[in-house]
Amino acid sequence: MFTEEALKRFRNPKNAGKLKDYNGKGKSGDPECSDVIEMFVKFNNDKVINAKFKVFGCPGAVSTTDAFIDMIKGKTINEASRITEEDIADELGGLPVTHMHCSNLSIEAFEKAVQDYRKNEPERSKKNTRFSRKS
Ligand code: FES
Repeated sequence: MFTEEALKRFRNPKNAGKLKDYNGKGKSGDPECSDVIEMFVKFNNDKVINAKFKVFGCPGAVSTTDAFIDMIKGKTINEASRITEEDIADELGGLPVTHMHCSNLSIEAFEKAVQDYRKNEPERSKKNTRFSRKS
């Protein structure tokens, strides 16, 4: 069974939605259950400023992603990347064994959002450099 904390986040995920000013986006799906999440992350100087997610998935996917986003806000990319599926389960007071894999979706979507951010970062850096030279 899911814990009260997991059910609370499933019923009212505060981090659900799309972030307008994101600069890293990642999508992850589990082919076995067909659940999919998309994560939008706002980074600044390799730090997670904010994040939101859209989901088509089970209570485990919703609650673990909502918890994961709370856990990564304010952290550096390196710190956030060290969060494990066990850490997320602990944040929820535990997860049913059959739903431990659900938290992998948020971890994987975040990794892809980081790749997306890093891929675009050189362009932004060039623009920022040009901007700072003019001013
Ligand atoms: Fe597929 Fe939870 S059962 S992510």
